[in-house]
Amino acid sequence: MNESSAAASSYLLLTLIIHLLPFVSAHDFLSAGSSLSVEHSSDVLHSQDGTFTCGFYRISPNASTFSIWFSGSSERTVVWSANPLHPVYTWGSKVELDADGSMVLKDYNGQIVWTNNASVSDAGHVQARLLGTGNLAVEGRGGAILWQSFDSPTDTLLPTQRITASTKLVSTNRLLVPGHYSFRFDDQYLLSLFDDEKNISFIYWPNPRMTIWAKGRVQFNSTMSGALDTLGHFLASDNATFTAADWGPGIMRRLTLDYDGNLRLYSLNVADRTWSVTWMAFPQLCNVHGLCGENGICVYTPVPACACAPGFEVIDPSERSKGCRPKTNISCDVEKVDFAKLPHTDFLGYDMTAHHSVSLDFCKKECLHDCNCKGFAYWEGIGDCYPKSVLVGGVTLQNFASTGTMYIKIPNGLQVLDASIPQSQPFGPKYSPDCGTTNRYFIADFLDKLKRDHSGSKYLYFYGFLSAIFLAEVVFVGLGWFILRREYRELRGVWPAEPGYEMIANHFRRYAYRELVTATRKFKDELGRGASGIVYKGVLEDKGAVAVKKLAEINQSEEEFRHELSVISMINHMNLVRVWGYCSDGPHRILVSECFENGSLDKILFGSKGSEILLGWKQRFDIALGVARGLAYLHHECSEWVIHCDVKPENILLDENLVPKIADFGLAKLLNRGRSNLNVSKIQGTRGYLAPEWVSSLPITAKVDVYSFGVVLLELLIGARVSNMGNDEDVEAEMVLGRVSRLVKEKLQSDDTEPSWIADFIDSRLNGDFNNLQARIMMRLSISCLEEDRDRRPTMENAVQILVLTEDVSGANVMVRAT
Ligand SMILES: *[C@@H]1O[C@H](CO)[C@@H](O)[C@H](O)[C@H]1NC(C)=O
Ligand SMILES: *[C@@H]1O[C@H](CO)[C@@H](O)[C@H](O)[C@H]1NC(C)=O
Ligand SMILES: *[C@@H]1O[C@H](CO)[C@@H](O)[C@H](O)[C@H]1NC(C)=O
Ligand SMILES: *[C@@H]1O[C@H](CO)[C@@H](O)[C@H](O)[C@H]1NC(C)=O
Ligand SMILES: *[C@@H]1O[C@H](CO)[C@@H](O)[C@H](O)[C@H]1NC(C)=O
Ligand SMILES: *[C@@H]1O[C@H](CO)[C@@H](O)[C@H](O)[C@H]1NC(C)=O
Repeated sequence: MNESSAAASSYLLLTLIIHLLPFVSAHDFLSAGSSLSVEHSSDVLHSQDGTFTCGFYRISPNASTFSIWFSGSSERTVVWSANPLHPVYTWGSKVELDADGSMVLKDYNGQIVWTNNASVSDAGHVQARLLGTGNLAVEGRGGAILWQSFDSPTDTLLPTQRITASTKLVSTNRLLVPGHYSFRFDDQYLLSLFDDEKNISFIYWPNPRMTIWAKGRVQFNSTMSGALDTLGHFLASDNATFTAADWGPGIMRRLTLDYDGNLRLYSLNVADRTWSVTWMAFPQLCNVHGLCGENGICVYTPVPACACAPGFEVIDPSERSKGCRPKTNISCDVEKVDFAKLPHTDFLGYDMTAHHSVSLDFCKKECLHDCNCKGFAYWEGIGDCYPKSVLVGGVTLQNFASTGTMYIKIPNGLQVLDASIPQSQPFGPKYSPDCGTTNRYFIADFLDKLKRDHSGSKYLYFYGFLSAIFLAEVVFVGLGWFILRREYRELRGVWPAEPGYEMIANHFRRYAYRELVTATRKFKDELGRGASGIVYKGVLEDKGAVAVKKLAEINQSEEEFRHELSVISMINHMNLVRVWGYCSDGPHRILVSECFENGSLDKILFGSKGSEILLGWKQRFDIALGVARGLAYLHHECSEWVIHCDVKPENILLDENLVPKIADFGLAKLLNRGRSNLNVSKIQGTRGYLAPEWVSSLPITAKVDVYSFGVVLLELLIGARVSNMGNDEDVEAEMVLGRVSRLVKEKLQSDDTEPSWIADFIDSRLNGDFNNLQARIMMRLSISCLEEDRDRRPTMENAVQILVLTEDVSGANVMVRAT
């Protein structure tokens, strides 16, 4: 008796506890028979470590979805939604868990909007939990999973979540409304990006024009599964693979198919709770299929924007993928039709036929006499002709990429102004809203995300063309994620506040003179000497080999010296020599920096004593790009502008992997502290690399470095010092330089008639083993850097972009037409 009553009371207690539990700790799990309601903001489930939250997400004042989001990001980032297409009312709606494991979302009027379809007859003790991975799971007897949100992703894949034959990601806008892009397995079992138009789906990634071999994929592996691991590496059964730039453990990531059709891998920055892109399928957004719709053309302004072809007008400004319609109907009468010429433009697909080695006139006639032909692409030189029945996927590229020319049909007599021909200006001025001339470009918010902060335009710009390319570069070149993060923040204008910044500054230290005397064995090993001082080799306990530079002619106070050094101390870039610290003891002013065994570029390039290394083409290109990056960083990305003033091969050091590191930056200011600008009274650079403004009375700007870079670039191509090319010993370096650059300029202009000239110019030691297109573009860049008029020289940022794009041009997958 006693025993059974005890058992009964403990049973009672137990049931009481069980029934109380939902109310006590509804935050950890949802048990059968209980519900989450939309009104109570506390009615949410948290994952155990608090990373994810599950509950009602308000997409507008009256509409909510049942969703999972990151708890820790500054903007609410939804990773899954049950009912994106059918939001529920923000009052009276709830989600219930039944004892059979079914989860039901009911609108305010009791209408079932969504159900997980899990209904198990003998489910046992059912509960719903949000797992640490961000997976909402309904668990039954023994923890068996009856249903999980990971099986029905929306636009995001979380680490360890699998994409399978039966699942796909669909792009969504900020209201979580699905767009027309999806990420799924195609009928060859290849993981692909699709543009799902009304009746037809286009695959646009991997590049459909590439062979299966070039794609690096494996067809028909029926496993059909892919996942991102916790380290940031994605691998699928078709061998589709990519890796986050910040590869490694402990970082929160998500793979999202964004509304603009680009698949991006994001990492959460713990410090400011924002997202950084660490991989993306399309560095150049215009290559996403259907971005601008029918008759629309994607242009880089440099932010990707949509324009209509001449004679066409926007259908719906709020939805650029609807494209453009003709302003007047185009007649079938041959007499009433004309062609508008769009240089460097192409439209994708819908080729009615293809002709090769035909004349432009032939191609024109072909299109003219076919009423269905809307226009044609013509490739000068090779004579390829592609008449098109529909104009979609229009994209215009920068001038130097070898795209064809597009001719589209317009009514006879329609005046087509040059200004109405869409032209990409990736290197031009950044887009600024100007009602006069630029309103023909329609800058869409391709991502359709809310931009809350005032740096909105920069945010968009970040996703734009230039920085996107930079990013992709970063990914490919394998620059650390740290730099990537900094780039991102820099663009958002908050860089100086981040912790990494302090970390760098703290690594910078002051050395005692005695310490350096010991390290250099009383300044015994001289590495080199220049106008700014003598460099000695030294060995420090914590840094290993270092270069110790005794600065000459420092006649500024210690305070000023330190101020300058505080600038130098913040400079950290893979293409700049790292300055470890300084010494300022009594009269001594000394800089301690990285030391490179390979020495400087001049030794290797000009083959003076002991150079066994012959720089190959790719190495030269990489050096050019690295130097450009380093200078661009100095000019544009540091908190203070730093003009180098003495760019020359002697100041470009090469590490063991031949990565260039610019030395001696920041010294111009140290040595010669002009008040407003640099003190022009003293020429700082080196003969043969001096921009004309040094000898004129113009103020010195960053463009002097651009000029010197132009010389270095030319020397990388030629393999000799330009100023030594004069036959006559007495000729001034400046005159030789002028002569060489004029010659190259002439050759570039007569390029078509005499295409082989370039081989005569390139370093003969390469034995013709170079990339012609890259060489030409580098030549052109070099000449534009050497413009007498500094305003006509590009910025270093421009130079980087040109080189980066050139890398792409030679690559296999970025060409608009690979055929
Ligand atoms: C939300 O619903 C209320 C009541 O139905 C209505 O008055 C209000 O206009 C709605 N708000 C919006 C933004 O739709
Ligand atoms: C549940 O089944 C219905 C009807 O078959 C279907 O429309 C719905 O998509 C299913 N829901 C889930 C989450 O699979
Ligand atoms: C799409 O399908 C409809 C109806 O089947 C058809 O009339 C239309 O021509 C199709 N459009 C295209 C672009 O194929
Ligand atoms: C198919 O993919 C799975 C998973 O990636 C892999 O284990 C398997 O070896 C693949 N099969 C073939 C034939 O490549
Ligand atoms: C899969 O990809 C890796 C690297 O991308 C490549 O080395 C390997 O050969 C590929 N496997 C197949 C079967 O193509
Ligand atoms: C073009 O032709 C269609 C039908 O042939 C007609 O409905 C339309 O109004 C015409 N548009 C213009 C701008 O003339």
